[in-house]
Amino acid sequence: MTDLLYVNGGTPLQGTISVRGAKNFVSKAMVASLLGESPSVLRNVPQIRDVGVVSGLLELHGVGVKYDPEAGVLDLDPSDVEAAHVADIDAHAGSSRIPILFCGPLLHRLGEAFIPDLGGCRIGDRPIDYHLEILRQFGAVVDKRPNGIHLRAPRRLQGTKISLPYPSVGATEQLLLTAVRAEGITELTGAATEPEIMDLIAVLQKMGAIISVDTDRVIKIEGVDRLDGYSHTALGDRIEAASWASAALATGGDVTIKGATQPEMMTFLNTFRKVGGQFDVQEDGIRFWHPGGDLRSIVLETDVHPGFMTDWQQPLVVALTQATGLSIVHETVYENRFGFTEALRQMGATIQVYKECLGGGACRFGARNFHHSAVVSGPTPLEAADIEVPDLRGGFSHLIAALAAKGTSTVRGISLIDRGYEAFQDKLVALGADVARG
Ligand code: EPZ
Repeated sequence: MTDLLYVNGGTPLQGTISVRGAKNFVSKAMVASLLGESPSVLRNVPQIRDVGVVSGLLELHGVGVKYDPEAGVLDLDPSDVEAAHVADIDAHAGSSRIPILFCGPLLHRLGEAFIPDLGGCRIGDRPIDYHLEILRQFGAVVDKRPNGIHLRAPRRLQGTKISLPYPSVGATEQLLLTAVRAEGITELTGAATEPEIMDLIAVLQKMGAIISVDTDRVIKIEGVDRLDGYSHTALGDRIEAASWASAALATGGDVTIKGATQPEMMTFLNTFRKVGGQFDVQEDGIRFWHPGGDLRSIVLETDVHPGFMTDWQQPLVVALTQATGLSIVHETVYENRFGFTEALRQMGATIQVYKECLGGGACRFGARNFHHSAVVSGPTPLEAADIEVPDLRGGFSHLIAALAAKGTSTVRGISLIDRGYEAFQDKLVALGADVARG
Protein backbone atom coordinates (compact mmCIF):
# COMPACT_ATOMS: atom_id res chain seq x y z
CA MET A 1 0.00 0.00 0.00
CA THR A 2 1.57 3.33 -0.97
CA ASP A 3 1.39 6.27 1.38
CA LEU A 4 -0.87 8.40 -0.78
CA LEU A 5 -4.58 9.02 -1.19
CA TYR A 6 -6.34 10.24 -4.32
CA VAL A 7 -9.20 12.57 -3.41
CA ASN A 8 -11.74 13.57 -6.03
CA GLY A 9 -13.23 16.65 -4.37
CA GLY A 10 -16.30 18.82 -4.80
CA THR A 11 -18.85 16.50 -3.15
CA PRO A 12 -20.49 17.58 0.15
CA LEU A 13 -19.76 15.14 3.00
CA GLN A 14 -23.04 13.64 4.19
CA GLY A 15 -23.83 10.92 6.69
CA THR A 16 -23.01 9.64 10.16
CA ILE A 17 -19.69 8.63 11.73
CA SER A 18 -18.50 7.92 15.29
CA VAL A 19 -15.51 9.18 17.27
CA ARG A 20 -14.11 7.16 20.16
CA GLY A 21 -11.75 8.10 23.03
CA ALA A 22 -9.59 11.23 22.94
CA LYS A 23 -6.08 10.55 21.58
CA ASN A 24 -4.65 13.17 23.99
CA PHE A 25 -6.20 11.46 27.00
CA VAL A 26 -5.99 7.75 26.20
CA SER A 27 -2.19 7.76 25.80
CA LYS A 28 -1.77 9.43 29.24
CA ALA A 29 -4.24 7.11 30.97
CA MET A 30 -2.21 4.21 29.58
CA VAL A 31 0.95 5.64 31.18
CA ALA A 32 -0.93 6.12 34.46
CA SER A 33 -1.55 2.35 34.62
CA LEU A 34 2.20 1.98 35.34
CA LEU A 35 1.58 3.54 38.76
CA GLY A 36 -0.93 0.87 39.81
CA GLU A 37 -0.05 -2.26 41.82
CA SER A 38 -2.92 -4.06 40.07
CA PRO A 39 -4.36 -4.24 36.51
CA SER A 40 -6.35 -1.47 34.81
CA VAL A 41 -9.08 -1.47 32.16
CA LEU A 42 -9.55 1.45 29.73
CA ARG A 43 -12.62 1.58 27.46
CA ASN A 44 -13.57 3.59 24.34
CA VAL A 45 -9.95 3.29 23.13
CA PRO A 46 -9.57 4.14 19.41
CA GLN A 47 -7.37 2.07 17.08
CA ILE A 48 -4.81 4.79 16.30
CA ARG A 49 -1.01 4.70 15.98
CA ASP A 50 -0.41 6.62 19.21
CA VAL A 51 -2.12 3.80 21.16
CA GLY A 52 0.15 1.29 19.43
CA VAL A 53 3.28 3.30 20.24
CA VAL A 54 2.42 3.63 23.95
CA SER A 55 1.41 -0.06 24.11
CA GLY A 56 4.85 -0.97 22.75
CA LEU A 57 6.61 1.20 25.33
CA LEU A 58 4.54 -0.26 28.17
CA GLU A 59 5.31 -3.83 27.03
CA LEU A 60 9.03 -2.92 26.97
CA HIS A 61 8.66 -2.19 30.67
CA GLY A 62 7.01 -5.54 31.38
CA VAL A 63 3.41 -4.32 31.34
CA GLY A 64 0.93 -6.86 29.94
CA VAL A 65 -1.15 -5.13 27.23
CA LYS A 66 -4.24 -6.67 25.62
CA TYR A 67 -6.36 -4.61 23.18
CA ASP A 68 -9.68 -5.53 21.58
CA PRO A 69 -10.03 -3.02 18.70
CA GLU A 70 -13.68 -3.90 18.04
CA ALA A 71 -14.75 -3.36 21.64
CA GLY A 72 -12.18 -0.60 22.15
CA VAL A 73 -11.12 -2.18 25.45
CA LEU A 74 -7.51 -2.08 26.66
CA ASP A 75 -6.38 -4.36 29.52
CA LEU A 76 -3.16 -3.23 31.21
CA ASP A 77 -1.34 -5.41 33.77
CA PRO A 78 1.67 -3.69 35.43
CA SER A 79 2.26 -6.46 37.97
CA ASP A 80 5.83 -7.14 36.87
CA VAL A 81 7.18 -3.85 35.61
CA GLU A 82 10.90 -4.13 34.94
CA ALA A 83 13.60 -1.91 33.46
CA ALA A 84 13.47 -2.03 29.68
CA HIS A 85 16.62 -2.28 27.64
CA VAL A 86 17.76 1.19 26.54
CA ALA A 87 18.30 -0.08 23.01
CA ASP A 88 14.70 -1.33 22.78
CA ILE A 89 13.31 2.01 23.87
CA ASP A 90 15.55 3.73 21.35
CA ALA A 91 13.59 1.95 18.66
CA HIS A 92 10.64 4.09 19.66
CA ALA A 93 12.63 7.32 19.58
CA GLY A 94 11.08 10.08 17.51
CA SER A 95 7.71 8.41 17.42
CA SER A 96 5.78 10.61 19.83
CA ARG A 97 6.05 12.96 22.81
CA ILE A 98 4.39 10.55 25.21
CA PRO A 99 7.63 8.85 26.44
CA ILE A 100 8.49 11.97 28.49
CA LEU A 101 5.45 11.18 30.67
CA PHE A 102 6.92 7.80 31.62
CA CYS A 103 9.52 9.54 33.84
CA GLY A 104 7.51 9.93 37.05
CA PRO A 105 5.93 6.47 37.07
CA LEU A 106 9.25 4.74 36.24
CA LEU A 107 11.15 6.72 38.87
CA HIS A 108 8.57 5.57 41.44
CA ARG A 109 8.56 1.93 40.25
CA LEU A 110 12.21 1.39 39.28
CA GLY A 111 14.14 4.34 40.67
CA GLU A 112 15.33 5.24 37.19
CA ALA A 113 14.17 5.85 33.60
CA PHE A 114 15.64 6.37 30.15
CA ILE A 115 13.63 8.49 27.74
CA PRO A 116 14.51 8.54 24.01
CA ASP A 117 14.57 11.69 21.91
CA LEU A 118 10.97 12.74 21.45
CA GLY A 119 8.89 13.00 18.28
CA GLY A 120 5.63 14.81 17.78
CA CYS A 121 4.34 17.25 15.18
CA ARG A 122 6.66 19.94 13.76
CA ILE A 123 4.49 22.85 14.87
CA GLY A 124 7.07 24.58 17.00
CA ASP A 125 10.21 23.91 18.95
CA ARG A 126 8.31 21.63 21.42
CA PRO A 127 10.81 22.08 24.33
CA ILE A 128 10.55 19.98 27.51
CA ASP A 129 12.23 22.44 29.88
CA TYR A 130 9.13 22.65 32.11
CA HIS A 131 9.05 18.82 32.35
CA LEU A 132 12.72 18.48 33.35
CA GLU A 133 12.50 21.33 35.87
CA ILE A 134 9.47 19.67 37.49
CA LEU A 135 11.28 16.31 37.79
CA ARG A 136 14.37 17.96 39.26
CA GLN A 137 12.17 19.76 41.84
CA PHE A 138 10.80 16.37 42.92
CA GLY A 139 14.40 15.24 43.50
CA ALA A 140 15.20 13.38 40.30
CA VAL A 141 18.73 13.52 38.89
CA VAL A 142 18.42 14.33 35.17
CA ASP A 143 21.31 13.38 32.88
CA LYS A 144 21.10 14.32 29.19
CA ARG A 145 22.65 11.61 26.97
CA PRO A 146 23.41 11.69 23.21
CA ASN A 147 20.26 9.71 22.34
CA GLY A 148 17.91 10.71 25.13
CA ILE A 149 17.64 11.49 28.82
CA HIS A 150 18.58 9.27 31.80
CA LEU A 151 16.89 9.98 35.12
CA ARG A 152 17.32 8.45 38.55
CA ALA A 153 15.73 8.96 41.97
CA PRO A 154 18.40 8.64 44.70
CA ARG A 155 15.55 8.42 47.24
CA ARG A 156 11.73 8.61 47.25
CA LEU A 157 10.60 11.68 45.29
CA GLN A 158 9.43 14.53 47.52
CA GLY A 159 6.33 16.69 47.03
CA THR A 160 7.10 20.24 45.92
CA LYS A 161 5.66 23.60 44.88
CA ILE A 162 5.73 24.39 41.15
CA SER A 163 4.54 27.42 39.22
CA LEU A 164 4.26 26.99 35.43
CA PRO A 165 5.19 30.02 33.29
CA TYR A 166 2.59 28.77 30.77
CA PRO A 167 -0.36 26.38 31.35
CA SER A 168 1.34 23.53 29.52
CA VAL A 169 -0.80 20.40 29.10
CA GLY A 170 2.18 18.04 29.06
CA ALA A 171 3.92 19.67 32.01
CA THR A 172 0.70 19.50 34.05
CA GLU A 173 0.41 15.79 33.21
CA GLN A 174 4.09 15.29 34.08
CA LEU A 175 3.47 16.78 37.51
CA LEU A 176 0.27 14.79 38.12
CA LEU A 177 1.88 11.45 37.18
CA THR A 178 4.81 12.17 39.51
CA ALA A 179 3.15 13.90 42.49
CA VAL A 180 0.54 11.19 43.19
CA ARG A 181 3.18 8.78 44.57
CA ALA A 182 5.68 11.35 45.89
CA GLU A 183 6.08 11.86 49.66
CA GLY A 184 4.06 14.79 50.97
CA ILE A 185 2.12 17.61 49.34
CA THR A 186 2.62 19.05 45.85
CA GLU A 187 1.09 22.33 44.71
CA LEU A 188 0.96 23.40 41.07
CA THR A 189 0.02 26.97 40.09
CA GLY A 190 -0.62 27.95 36.47
CA ALA A 191 -1.91 24.45 35.62
CA ALA A 192 -3.60 23.42 32.39
CA THR A 193 -7.24 22.43 32.95
CA GLU A 194 -8.21 20.89 29.61
CA PRO A 195 -11.00 18.23 29.72
CA GLU A 196 -8.36 15.57 28.96
CA ILE A 197 -6.45 16.68 32.08
CA MET A 198 -9.61 16.50 34.19
CA ASP A 199 -10.26 12.96 32.90
CA LEU A 200 -6.68 11.99 33.82
CA ILE A 201 -7.29 13.37 37.33
CA ALA A 202 -10.46 11.24 37.50
CA VAL A 203 -8.41 8.16 36.57
CA LEU A 204 -5.76 8.93 39.21
CA GLN A 205 -8.44 9.50 41.85
CA LYS A 206 -9.95 6.08 40.99
CA MET A 207 -6.46 4.61 41.56
CA GLY A 208 -6.29 6.07 45.08
CA ALA A 209 -4.77 9.51 44.52
CA ILE A 210 -5.81 12.65 46.47
CA ILE A 211 -6.04 15.59 44.03
CA SER A 212 -7.92 18.89 44.25
CA VAL A 213 -8.39 21.46 41.46
CA ASP A 214 -8.97 25.00 42.76
CA THR A 215 -10.57 27.87 40.84
CA ASP A 216 -7.39 29.76 39.89
CA ARG A 217 -5.58 26.97 38.01
CA VAL A 218 -4.07 25.67 41.28
CA ILE A 219 -3.86 21.87 41.64
CA LYS A 220 -2.94 20.28 44.99
CA ILE A 221 -1.89 16.63 45.38
CA GLU A 222 -1.29 14.65 48.58
CA GLY A 223 1.16 11.85 47.79
CA VAL A 224 0.04 8.34 48.79
CA ASP A 225 1.99 5.12 49.37
CA ARG A 226 0.02 2.90 47.04
CA LEU A 227 -2.11 3.18 43.91
CA ASP A 228 -4.23 0.44 42.38
CA GLY A 229 -5.51 -0.17 38.89
CA TYR A 230 -8.51 1.69 37.46
CA SER A 231 -11.55 0.94 35.31
CA HIS A 232 -12.44 3.92 33.10
CA THR A 233 -14.20 4.94 29.91
CA ALA A 234 -12.28 7.60 27.98
CA LEU A 235 -13.99 10.90 27.07
CA GLY A 236 -14.64 11.46 23.37
CA ASP A 237 -12.10 13.03 21.02
CA ARG A 238 -13.22 16.67 20.69
CA ILE A 239 -10.38 17.42 18.27
CA GLU A 240 -11.45 14.69 15.86
CA ALA A 241 -15.08 15.78 16.18
CA ALA A 242 -14.21 19.41 15.39
CA SER A 243 -12.08 18.27 12.45
CA TRP A 244 -15.01 16.44 10.83
CA ALA A 245 -17.35 19.35 11.63
CA SER A 246 -14.95 21.71 9.81
CA ALA A 247 -14.92 19.27 6.88
CA ALA A 248 -18.73 19.37 6.76
CA LEU A 249 -18.64 23.18 6.65
CA ALA A 250 -15.87 23.39 4.05
CA THR A 251 -17.62 20.94 1.68
CA GLY A 252 -21.16 22.28 2.21
CA GLY A 253 -22.15 19.02 3.87
CA ASP A 254 -24.16 17.56 6.75
CA VAL A 255 -22.36 15.22 9.15
CA THR A 256 -23.62 13.61 12.38
CA ILE A 257 -20.80 12.70 14.76
CA LYS A 258 -21.67 10.06 17.38
CA GLY A 259 -19.56 10.41 20.52
CA ALA A 260 -19.17 14.21 20.21
CA THR A 261 -20.16 15.96 23.44
CA GLN A 262 -21.27 19.57 23.92
CA PRO A 263 -19.56 20.56 27.23
CA GLU A 264 -16.07 19.81 25.87
CA MET A 265 -16.82 21.61 22.55
CA MET A 266 -18.66 24.75 23.76
CA THR A 267 -16.13 27.25 22.39
CA PHE A 268 -15.89 25.41 19.06
CA LEU A 269 -19.70 25.35 18.77
CA ASN A 270 -19.91 29.12 19.32
CA THR A 271 -17.31 29.71 16.60
CA PHE A 272 -18.96 27.19 14.24
CA ARG A 273 -22.23 29.13 14.63
CA LYS A 274 -20.52 32.54 14.15
CA VAL A 275 -19.04 31.34 10.83
CA GLY A 276 -22.56 30.37 9.75
CA GLY A 277 -22.60 26.64 10.39
CA GLN A 278 -25.51 24.99 12.17
CA PHE A 279 -25.40 22.21 14.78
CA ASP A 280 -27.87 20.12 16.73
CA VAL A 281 -26.82 18.52 20.03
CA GLN A 282 -28.37 15.05 20.21
CA GLU A 283 -28.49 12.30 22.87
CA ASP A 284 -25.41 10.46 21.58
CA GLY A 285 -23.64 13.00 19.41
CA ILE A 286 -23.82 16.28 17.50
CA ARG A 287 -25.05 16.95 13.95
CA PHE A 288 -23.09 19.64 12.05
CA TRP A 289 -24.23 21.09 8.73
CA HIS A 290 -23.80 23.93 6.22
CA PRO A 291 -27.27 25.55 5.92
CA GLY A 292 -26.52 27.05 2.48
CA GLY A 293 -25.80 30.69 1.70
CA ASP A 294 -22.58 32.52 2.55
CA LEU A 295 -20.23 31.65 5.39
CA ARG A 296 -19.09 34.61 7.45
CA SER A 297 -15.47 35.61 8.10
CA ILE A 298 -14.44 35.96 11.76
CA VAL A 299 -11.66 37.09 14.10
CA LEU A 300 -10.29 34.05 15.95
CA GLU A 301 -7.66 33.66 18.69
CA THR A 302 -6.53 30.27 19.94
CA ASP A 303 -5.87 29.82 23.65
CA VAL A 304 -5.63 27.25 26.44
CA HIS A 305 -8.87 25.78 27.79
CA PRO A 306 -11.61 27.03 27.86
CA GLY A 307 -10.45 29.11 24.89
CA PHE A 308 -10.57 28.04 21.23
CA MET A 309 -8.22 25.06 21.08
CA THR A 310 -5.10 25.30 18.96
CA ASP A 311 -5.83 21.86 17.45
CA TRP A 312 -9.17 23.12 16.15
CA GLN A 313 -7.54 26.00 14.27
CA GLN A 314 -6.04 24.20 11.29
CA PRO A 315 -9.18 22.34 10.13
CA LEU A 316 -11.33 25.45 10.63
CA VAL A 317 -9.00 27.65 8.56
CA VAL A 318 -9.90 25.55 5.51
CA ALA A 319 -13.59 26.38 6.08
CA LEU A 320 -12.62 30.07 6.45
CA THR A 321 -11.21 30.03 2.89
CA GLN A 322 -14.86 29.53 1.85
CA ALA A 323 -16.19 32.37 4.06
CA THR A 324 -17.00 35.79 2.62
CA GLY A 325 -14.57 38.53 3.68
CA LEU A 326 -11.36 38.68 5.71
CA SER A 327 -10.82 36.30 8.65
CA ILE A 328 -8.03 36.93 11.13
CA VAL A 329 -6.51 34.02 13.09
CA HIS A 330 -4.07 34.61 15.96
CA GLU A 331 -2.36 31.36 17.06
CA THR A 332 -1.06 31.94 20.62
CA VAL A 333 -0.24 28.35 21.74
CA TYR A 334 2.34 27.27 19.13
CA GLU A 335 4.77 29.52 17.34
CA ASN A 336 4.73 27.76 14.00
CA ARG A 337 1.30 26.31 13.26
CA PHE A 338 0.52 27.87 9.87
CA GLY A 339 2.91 25.78 7.79
CA PHE A 340 -0.07 23.92 6.34
CA THR A 341 -1.36 27.13 4.67
CA GLU A 342 1.36 26.77 1.98
CA ALA A 343 -0.55 23.91 0.37
CA LEU A 344 -3.84 25.82 0.68
CA ARG A 345 -2.31 28.77 -1.22
CA GLN A 346 -1.12 26.29 -3.85
CA MET A 347 -4.77 25.21 -4.21
CA GLY A 348 -6.05 28.75 -4.68
CA ALA A 349 -6.66 30.02 -1.14
CA THR A 350 -5.72 33.63 -0.30
CA ILE A 351 -3.94 33.39 3.07
CA GLN A 352 -1.19 35.69 4.31
CA VAL A 353 0.75 34.95 7.52
CA TYR A 354 2.24 37.65 9.76
CA LYS A 355 4.73 37.96 12.61
CA GLU A 356 2.53 40.44 14.46
CA CYS A 357 -0.15 39.46 17.03
CA LEU A 358 -3.26 40.14 14.92
CA GLY A 359 -6.85 40.12 16.05
CA GLY A 360 -6.30 39.91 19.77
CA GLY A 361 -3.95 40.84 22.59
CA ALA A 362 -0.15 40.53 22.49
CA CYS A 363 1.08 36.97 23.05
CA ARG A 364 4.42 35.25 23.82
CA PHE A 365 5.39 35.18 20.17
CA GLY A 366 4.71 38.83 19.31
CA ALA A 367 8.25 40.14 19.20
CA ARG A 368 10.01 36.90 18.28
CA ASN A 369 9.77 36.75 14.53
CA PHE A 370 7.30 33.85 14.37
CA HIS A 371 4.60 33.86 11.70
CA HIS A 372 1.79 33.12 14.13
CA SER A 373 -1.06 35.26 12.74
CA ALA A 374 -2.93 34.69 9.48
CA VAL A 375 -5.41 36.66 7.38
CA VAL A 376 -7.73 34.57 5.18
CA SER A 377 -9.62 36.25 2.33
CA GLY A 378 -12.61 34.38 0.90
CA PRO A 379 -14.44 32.82 -0.62
CA THR A 380 -11.83 31.35 -2.98
CA PRO A 381 -12.53 28.27 -5.08
CA LEU A 382 -9.94 25.56 -4.37
CA GLU A 383 -8.29 23.57 -7.16
CA ALA A 384 -6.98 20.03 -6.78
CA ALA A 385 -3.21 19.74 -6.19
CA ASP A 386 -0.43 17.32 -5.28
CA ILE A 387 0.10 17.93 -1.53
CA GLU A 388 2.27 16.53 1.26
CA VAL A 389 0.93 16.03 4.82
CA PRO A 390 3.07 18.28 7.14
CA ASP A 391 1.76 17.17 10.54
CA LEU A 392 -1.27 15.50 12.09
CA ARG A 393 -3.81 18.33 12.18
CA GLY A 394 -2.31 20.11 9.16
CA GLY A 395 -2.58 16.82 7.34
CA PHE A 396 -6.26 16.51 8.10
CA SER A 397 -6.67 20.11 6.92
CA HIS A 398 -5.06 19.14 3.62
CA LEU A 399 -7.58 16.32 3.37
CA ILE A 400 -10.44 18.79 3.95
CA ALA A 401 -9.02 21.14 1.31
CA ALA A 402 -8.80 18.27 -1.19
CA LEU A 403 -12.40 17.29 -0.39
CA ALA A 404 -13.53 20.89 -1.01
CA ALA A 405 -11.44 21.36 -4.18
CA LYS A 406 -12.58 20.71 -7.72
CA GLY A 407 -10.69 17.87 -9.37
CA THR A 408 -8.56 15.01 -8.06
CA SER A 409 -5.82 15.79 -5.52
CA THR A 410 -2.96 13.53 -4.50
CA VAL A 411 -2.38 13.67 -0.73
CA ARG A 412 1.04 12.21 0.16
CA GLY A 413 2.23 10.96 3.57
CA ILE A 414 -1.34 10.06 4.41
CA SER A 415 -0.35 7.45 7.03
CA LEU A 416 0.61 10.29 9.41
CA ILE A 417 -3.12 10.93 9.79
CA ASP A 418 -3.52 7.40 11.21
CA ARG A 419 -1.76 8.71 14.33
CA GLY A 420 -4.85 10.54 15.51
CA TYR A 421 -7.84 9.81 13.26
CA GLU A 422 -9.18 6.28 13.65
CA ALA A 423 -10.20 4.59 10.34
CA PHE A 424 -10.41 8.01 8.65
CA GLN A 425 -10.54 6.52 5.14
CA ASP A 426 -13.54 4.32 6.07
CA LYS A 427 -15.22 7.38 7.57
CA LEU A 428 -14.58 9.39 4.40
CA VAL A 429 -16.22 6.65 2.33
CA ALA A 430 -19.13 6.46 4.79
CA LEU A 431 -19.63 10.20 4.21
CA GLY A 432 -19.73 9.78 0.44
CA ALA A 433 -16.22 11.04 -0.35
CA ASP A 434 -14.67 9.82 -3.60
CA VAL A 435 -11.24 8.61 -2.37
CA ALA A 436 -8.83 5.82 -3.29
CA ARG A 437 -5.52 4.71 -1.76
CA GLY A 438 -2.57 5.08 -4.15
C1 EPZ B 1 -0.62 18.65 24.04
O1 EPZ B 1 0.69 18.88 23.61
C2 EPZ B 1 -1.31 17.94 22.88
N1 EPZ B 1 -0.60 16.70 22.59
C3 EPZ B 1 -1.31 18.85 21.66
O2 EPZ B 1 -2.04 18.19 20.62
C4 EPZ B 1 -2.05 20.13 22.01
O3 EPZ B 1 -2.02 21.00 20.89
C5 EPZ B 1 -1.36 20.79 23.20
O4 EPZ B 1 -1.32 19.88 24.31
C6 EPZ B 1 -2.08 22.05 23.65
O5 EPZ B 1 -3.41 21.75 23.98
C7 EPZ B 1 -0.80 15.63 23.40
O6 EPZ B 1 -1.52 15.70 24.37
C8 EPZ B 1 -0.06 14.38 23.02
P1 EPZ B 1 1.85 22.01 25.76
P2 EPZ B 1 1.82 19.39 24.66
O7 EPZ B 1 2.89 21.48 26.67
O8 EPZ B 1 1.52 18.83 26.00
C9 EPZ B 1 5.29 25.19 25.42
C10 EPZ B 1 -2.28 17.09 18.55
O9 EPZ B 1 -2.30 17.40 17.35
N2 EPZ B 1 6.09 24.34 26.32
O10 EPZ B 1 0.55 22.48 26.34
O11 EPZ B 1 3.16 19.13 24.06
C11 EPZ B 1 5.13 24.57 24.04
O12 EPZ B 1 6.27 24.82 23.23
C12 EPZ B 1 -1.28 17.74 19.48
O13 EPZ B 1 -3.04 16.23 19.07
C13 EPZ B 1 7.33 24.79 26.75
O14 EPZ B 1 7.76 25.89 26.41
O15 EPZ B 1 1.51 20.95 24.64
C14 EPZ B 1 3.91 25.25 23.50
O16 EPZ B 1 4.24 26.52 22.96
C15 EPZ B 1 -0.51 18.87 18.81
N3 EPZ B 1 8.09 23.98 27.54
C16 EPZ B 1 3.05 25.46 24.75
O17 EPZ B 1 3.94 25.29 25.88
C17 EPZ B 1 7.65 22.75 27.96
O18 EPZ B 1 8.39 22.05 28.70
C18 EPZ B 1 1.92 24.46 24.87
O19 EPZ B 1 2.50 23.18 24.87
C19 EPZ B 1 6.38 22.30 27.51
C20 EPZ B 1 5.62 23.12 26.70
